[in-house]
Amino acid sequence: MTELTQNPAAGSAASDDSNAGHPMWSSRLAFILAASGSAVGLGNIWKFPYITGENGGGAFVLVYLLCIALIGIPIMVAEVAIGRRGGSSPINSMRKLAARDGLSKRWVWLGGMGMIASFLILSFYSVIGGWALAYVGNSAGGLFVGASSESIGEMFGGLLSDPYTLLMWHSLFMVLVVMIVARGVSSGMEKAINILMPILFALILVMVGYAMSTDSFGAGFSFLFSPDFSKLTTEGVLTALGHAFFTLSLGMGVMMAYGSYLPKNVSIVKTAFTVSIVDTLVALLAGLAIFPLVFANGMEPGAGPGLIFQTLPIAFGQMPGGVLFGTLFFVLLVVAAVTSAISLLEPVVEWFEEQKGIDRTKGALIGGWSIWALGVLTILSLNEWSGFHPLGMFERFEGKTIFDLLDYVTANLMMPLGGLFIALFMGWFMSKQATENELSIGNGAAFKLLMFILRFVTPAAVLVVFVYNLM
Ligand code: TRP
Repeated sequence: MTELTQNPAAGSAASDDSNAGHPMWSSRLAFILAASGSAVGLGNIWKFPYITGENGGGAFVLVYLLCIALIGIPIMVAEVAIGRRGGSSPINSMRKLAARDGLSKRWVWLGGMGMIASFLILSFYSVIGGWALAYVGNSAGGLFVGASSESIGEMFGGLLSDPYTLLMWHSLFMVLVVMIVARGVSSGMEKAINILMPILFALILVMVGYAMSTDSFGAGFSFLFSPDFSKLTTEGVLTALGHAFFTLSLGMGVMMAYGSYLPKNVSIVKTAFTVSIVDTLVALLAGLAIFPLVFANGMEPGAGPGLIFQTLPIAFGQMPGGVLFGTLFFVLLVVAAVTSAISLLEPVVEWFEEQKGIDRTKGALIGGWSIWALGVLTILSLNEWSGFHPLGMFERFEGKTIFDLLDYVTANLMMPLGGLFIALFMGWFMSKQATENELSIGNGAAFKLLMFILRFVTPAAVLVVFVYNLM
């Protein structure tokens, strides 16, 4: 954790005094940067465009935006508030709060499930982070210059079919993440994010500018923003909901852990809005940068997980200064991925520290090594084992590799379930007084609306999705 200063006063200010002496973020901005660093990642730049492409565009984007506004932001508020009141790791925050409000001890499982989900997600997240690393090399080596869309497609196909190369980049990515987490995220890292996030933002704008210079900007724009509901499937709605959780890093205790370091005088509601808006903007801009290129080059929007790796290099290959911009872009994609990956390893390491008295370095090594090993299954899913569909006997999982299953189970089941229970906890179980204290927006209309959403809207939405999913 970064930029944390001992601030005993902040811990004991409001409802409880058990957090006295707990470290705190130095400012609201420090928290916003850390939380945005977690939220903005491969989910925005890699995943959002390709699932939008697979689900037909506009209508999917609309559902996604609704999910962010109606479900994502309220859950982020709840998750951060629970974390701040608990003042410890997700598992212990849940344990403390359940005890304090006289609730079932089983609430601890909410923290536990989040930890397992983080573990599973990081195993494939790191493999994709490895693709981004590989593309830093490809770009710097000038491989995109003047390349046709076919040859760029082959470059990507070649990477996926080569397990050893994938393994090398996946390993390098995990080493980076473990090194950072083992040291405790130093204040240097936070300063780096401070500079790098705005540059990432600016570079995406450069890419959007380039996309605007093609004839297909209009086509890309309307693909994203004019909804055609005939293209929206129930599966698409499920994907949009799952992605809202994924992109905001919700449902797994990560925001709880970050919230535990938030000083009492910072407005959780405002902060959650800021982080969500930054995250959504990055995703929409990535879409605006990518889809015009898809149409300009006669490619398929539904090309799948390789979409950005097959479109952006074409642009970098043609624009002036493309080698520099391309290299910088993939470096920043790696940075965005690393800052998210850190937040995924953190809960696992924290758990090691608490349960077994293993120190931080050892915890990061053991956690990182096991996640790395699980990542090998994702690598093999892309080539040697691409025909292996372990749950293929169920219609829903037909044709899904181990990688597809890990992605599906975490994004579509575990995160919404985590979000559901976080909403229920704050909506129905946590002491009303404590909730009011944490949110400090009074108990007027805004508070009532938020509570209504947490009590009814979120649970109903998630349940509808689950019922559909079980059928
Ligand atoms: N939000 C990140 C992204 O969009 C991924 C991520 C980081 C995440 N931490 C998380 C997802 C915690 C769920 C829970 O790439």
